[in-house]
Amino acid sequence: MAEHEQGIPDMLKAALRSPIPHELRGDLGLGALVIALFLLQVFTGILMSLYYQPSPDAVAESVQYIMRDVSWGWLVRGLHHWSSSALIVACLVHLARAVLAARYRGRAWYWYLGVLATMLVILSAFTGELLTWDNDAYWRVRAILADVETIPLVGPELAAIVRGGSEVSATTLSRTYSAHSLFVPWMVWMLLISSFGLIVRDVRRGKAGGS
Ligand code: HEM
Repeated sequence: MAEHEQGIPDMLKAALRSPIPHELRGDLGLGALVIALFLLQVFTGILMSLYYQPSPDAVAESVQYIMRDVSWGWLVRGLHHWSSSALIVACLVHLARAVLAARYRGRAWYWYLGVLATMLVILSAFTGELLTWDNDAYWRVRAILADVETIPLVGPELAAIVRGGSEVSATTLSRTYSAHSLFVPWMVWMLLISSFGLIVRDVRRGKAGGS
């Protein structure tokens, strides 16, 4: 079978059998850690979304319910909270290593995908912090949207889309929740899988390693 006709399982098998260049082992380890922490976020997030209610009147009670009444709910929420910080640190260390080793040189795609994925992970953590929808979160959303409105040309439109009207309301919370639990994680996943795919391809062709 021609090389380009092989399926993903064959490519993976071939990549796993290929020797991994020594200088790439740290990066691959960090990449695997990023993927593992991301999957932990998705897993704990899905468990919480079984009980979390994205409506201003019910949100506080539902978060209390997760912490107090759901078996292991406190642990699941704690894991979601702390692994969010761990994920951001892992992404930043991964990028810092790439900068120090000038790995982006000649393979700019990895670099762009990594920077974009890190920015989106930070956006996920940021939108997650707003989901408690307490007084603090409400005023933070108002302040952020006022800043977004000052972006030339697209600002007012963008703020109106996130706000879902002229005032911060229940629609804003449900849009923030959709962005947090669906749109942004999907985009991060696509970026992580694309970088992984590019690296598997390069290891397989013996092109990975060095800069
Ligand atoms: C990169 C991925 C993600 C990151 C970095 C992230 C981060 C966060 C953070 C920092 C919070 C606030 C935690 C707190 O109040 O202590 C949060 C809340 C929440 N997240 Fe995520 N999250 C991610 C993905 C997801 C996904 C995929 C789902 C659901 C499918 C989800 C569902 C939730 C829910 C329901 C809450 C509200 C409960 C609460 O306030 O603790 N998250 N997230």
